Amino acid sequence: MSTTAPEKHVSKRGCLKSRRSRIVLAVVIFIVVLAAVIPPVVVTTLRKKNSMGPKSKVFVPLYVYPAPGAWTPLEEVISAHPDVNFTVVINPGSGPGPNALPDANYTREVPNLASHANVRLLGYVHTTYATRNVSLVRKDIETYAAWPSASSNPDLAVRGIFFDETPQQYSPHSLAYLQNLTDLTKGLNGFGPDPFVMHNPGAVPDSRYLPTADSTVVFEETYTTFQERHGARLLTAIPESNRTQLCAVIHSVPSTVDGSKLRGLVKQVRSVADEVFITHLSSDYYASFGTKWAEFVSLMAA
Ligand SMILES: *[C@@H]1O[C@H](CO)[C@@H](O)[C@H](O)[C@H]1NC(C)=O
Ligand SMILES: *[C@@H]1O[C@H](CO)[C@@H](O)[C@H](O)[C@H]1NC(C)=O
Ligand SMILES: *[C@@H]1O[C@H](CO)[C@@H](O)[C@H](O)[C@H]1NC(C)=O
Ligand SMILES: *[C@@H]1O[C@H](CO)[C@@H](O)[C@H](O)[C@H]1NC(C)=O
Ligand SMILES: *[C@@H]1O[C@H](CO)[C@@H](O)[C@H](O)[C@H]1NC(C)=O
Repeated sequence: MSTTAPEKHVSKRGCLKSRRSRIVLAVVIFIVVLAAVIPPVVVTTLRKKNSMGPKSKVFVPLYVYPAPGAWTPLEEVISAHPDVNFTVVINPGSGPGPNALPDANYTREVPNLASHANVRLLGYVHTTYATRNVSLVRKDIETYAAWPSASSNPDLAVRGIFFDETPQQYSPHSLAYLQNLTDLTKGLNGFGPDPFVMHNPGAVPDSRYLPTADSTVVFEETYTTFQERHGARLLTAIPESNRTQLCAVIHSVPSTVDGSKLRGLVKQVRSVADEVFITHLSSDYYASFGTKWAEFVSLMAA
């Protein structure tokens, strides 16, 4: 008995052990299977969630005259996508126009746009590649800044300046010229607490200009040119810059680039530029909204 009992005991324990180890084995297999199945599911979910990459702002050169209803396609997407930010350039007359205030269509529509928390309005001013009489440029900037006081309407306001036709080639004179205008803009009352400065050289400028603006349009070309020049690679290769300072404008996108192709394009441009405008229009591309305007903004919201 004394020999069989331990034997039995051993065999019992052995049996217990093997049942326990079978359970352990089953649990281990279960965990291994789970480990194999769950991560791809989690990764796929995360990938789906982040599949469009970083969010960028919708950049809108709104060279559309605000006849009643003309800005409605913009108002609609701004309201539909409160989590998307819009940088909108208005241009009453190649600048603020000759008078202290723009006409009644502008004074009616600008406050509507400005009232949205996700909209930053900028006033258009041209510099003719830093050759325009700087006093006249300064006068244009001061005219925009004075809109709220001249109209006694705090909502008739822009929050910074879009400088068109800024130079690409470096010269100390041009840099001083642009810095002077940035300093003026940043120092004026009338643009709100954080005046914003954009430059438009339309192509990658000398990197020494980049710090004088909050954002620079470094690409303003057709879709075909974007493809030929490997636009996304071009923009990541700009010395001493990163996407937070860059704006890209791509126009003349072929109508065949829609659905997943348009999605791929928007994703690619979002990865390299913090402000983005993409349109299928191939002429007067800032004067109206293209047929895929709402689709483009939805992809910016994704
Ligand atoms: C506003 O726009 C309409 C349509 O273009 C035009 O007929 C009207 O004259 C404009 N109003 C002013 C004050 O310019
Ligand atoms: C939009 O603008 C708001 C206010 O300036 C800011 O807090 C938010 O981070 C911006 N969102 C994006 C996606 O740029
Ligand atoms: C620039 O414009 C101002 C104001 O109109 C004028 O007084 C000045 O003579 C102009 N300068 C040049 C170089 O044309
Ligand atoms: C900018 O230029 C104007 C006119 O040439 C000059 O009076 C002013 O002092 C300059 N401002 C700065 C900040 O350099
Ligand atoms: C990107 O550039 C901005 C403006 O020059 C700068 O403030 C920021 O630190 C830079 N970010 C990175 C990640 O280099």
